[in-house]
Amino acid sequence: MRTHHCNELRESHIGQTVTLIGWVNSARDHGGVIFIDLRDREGLTQCVFHPEQNAELAKLSHTLREEDVVQVVGVVSKRLEGTANDKIGTGAIEIVARELTIVNKADVLPFQLDKELSNEDIRMKYRYLDLRRARMSHNIRQRSVITSAARRYLDDSGFFEIETPILSNPTPEGARDFLVPSRLNPGRFYALPQAPQQYKQLMMVAGLEKYYQIARCFRDEDLRADRQPEFTQIDLEASFVGQEDIIRLVEGLLSSMFKAGLGIDVPTPFPRMTYREAEDLYGSDKPDTRYDMKIIDLADVFAATEFKIFRSTLDGGGVVRAINAKGFAGITTGQMNRLNEIAIQAGLPVKTLAFIKCEGGEYKSPLWKFFTDAEKDALVAKLAIEEGDIVFFVAGARESVSTILGRVRVECANMMELVKDSTAYNFLWVVDFPLLAFDEESGHWAAVHHPFTRPNAEDLAKLEAGDFANVRAVAYDVVLNGYELGGGSIRIHEKDLQAKMFEVLGVGPEEQQIKFGHILDAFRFGAPPHGGLALGLDRIAMLIAGEDSIREVIAFPKNNKGADLMAQSPCQIDFKQLREVYVQSTWKDPKLTQEKATP
Ligand code: AMO
Repeated sequence: MRTHHCNELRESHIGQTVTLIGWVNSARDHGGVIFIDLRDREGLTQCVFHPEQNAELAKLSHTLREEDVVQVVGVVSKRLEGTANDKIGTGAIEIVARELTIVNKADVLPFQLDKELSNEDIRMKYRYLDLRRARMSHNIRQRSVITSAARRYLDDSGFFEIETPILSNPTPEGARDFLVPSRLNPGRFYALPQAPQQYKQLMMVAGLEKYYQIARCFRDEDLRADRQPEFTQIDLEASFVGQEDIIRLVEGLLSSMFKAGLGIDVPTPFPRMTYREAEDLYGSDKPDTRYDMKIIDLADVFAATEFKIFRSTLDGGGVVRAINAKGFAGITTGQMNRLNEIAIQAGLPVKTLAFIKCEGGEYKSPLWKFFTDAEKDALVAKLAIEEGDIVFFVAGARESVSTILGRVRVECANMMELVKDSTAYNFLWVVDFPLLAFDEESGHWAAVHHPFTRPNAEDLAKLEAGDFANVRAVAYDVVLNGYELGGGSIRIHEKDLQAKMFEVLGVGPEEQQIKFGHILDAFRFGAPPHGGLALGLDRIAMLIAGEDSIREVIAFPKNNKGADLMAQSPCQIDFKQLREVYVQSTWKDPKLTQEKATP
């Protein structure tokens, strides 16, 4: 339907007769001469209709409205002196139209495509229009470019691309499963995969050695800007490798994606930090290292304190820690309230964060009067407190203090706009994760990564001895600017160790057989040592595109209630269809129930 796309014609084409097709991006009438900007996914080309050359055609062009689909035949001509547009590739030329076909008229759009729209519901309802916008179209294209770069890199590194089932069994990745009833097996359900974890390990047992997949994963969990119920992983696994091999491979993979997406060379190797350091210094297992504001331990400053709260915390094995938000003493009451809110959400047991402000050469703080002169001096020195600074303190259990100060740190950095360079990409590996964490709710130890992760060989004795809190895993996360891009581990490949791990997790022999019999069985028949990792493709695409939500890089995302407002999904299923899959709904619309109850 066309000879060229809308970002192709240059001065070298002048004189050629061409055919273009696309959308009317804009139409203007300049004293009877009609100019339209014709748009396709590649760009814009100006087409002009002169009434003195063809009155009939000019009349038809006068009826054009934005987003009509039209085909134009015309001659490539140089634009008049002084009317060139150097912002677009085709800005030196225009098409002097000879023919115009209105292929499809468009109704008035529910929103203008050239304006940013804050109402996300409208954008989602008409997502196909939203995606016509330059920014969205660019994001989708860039995602495609980085995805093919990833494929190329892994293909060239000897990885096979292999698909795994979507209808499968529950996978222990820490979220709830989406279930699918089976018509052929009454009363039974498939679960959509939270990750292809077990299948990829079984491929290693199958001798395939290097696998990858651009894998759709499904997790029924609370949604956030960087979490969707269905998302995409670049999932990979290899045999006969150790942590260093995976780390090197993934550094190369990410570099190739950033090169393809942004044209930048990401320096490798990435810095590394242990989980312990990340938690202690940044209060997060995915630290944003674009700014400093590290957490500082004050045990030595307050070693002899008589200030009751600090004394009892330290005596009880807890910690007193602080961050110095340099130059932020001018914090507003609103900002302070927001920080308190965040700290409380993160677990602060009191209503306000303790602070010290240094203003006008004075230290202002509700706590200041409880400290001795020596403590004050030591504190000022340790935190390098200067005029204009504000310091936030938290006392309590180590993990909880880290979490609270970690969140406060990130929020302060946002408020202070500490990230000045939007093109800074601070990659980082977090290594030496703990293998297990105690889950208060279930009263069981739970896998920090997943149950197939290998304990560090040096800590096996601790695992045997039941010192679970101190067993490290051979697990690693790759982090960028405060986002977890990916995580992986070296796996257990021995049946007995895997069974031991399940036992620690409270999965008894019978349940092990029912849920994980296939993998335990497979490990009996010569399983190779293996390991891997999965990257969140949506998050990578988001950061490359400079967006702050993965919804901006997914063609048809769900909103934060897991709904697709365009397709109206999820939808109600009628009784007949439910009966076919042997499912009966126990859900009752509370509104209807209430109406019935009211006489
Ligand atoms: P993990 O659970 O850490 O590991 O997931 C890997 C990466 O997937 C991305 N991710 C998500 N992205 C968007 N929305 C979500 N709901 C979501 N959940 C996870 C993150 C994360 O780092 N099987 C293991 C990998 C392995 O061990 O090889 C796994 O799935 O970027």
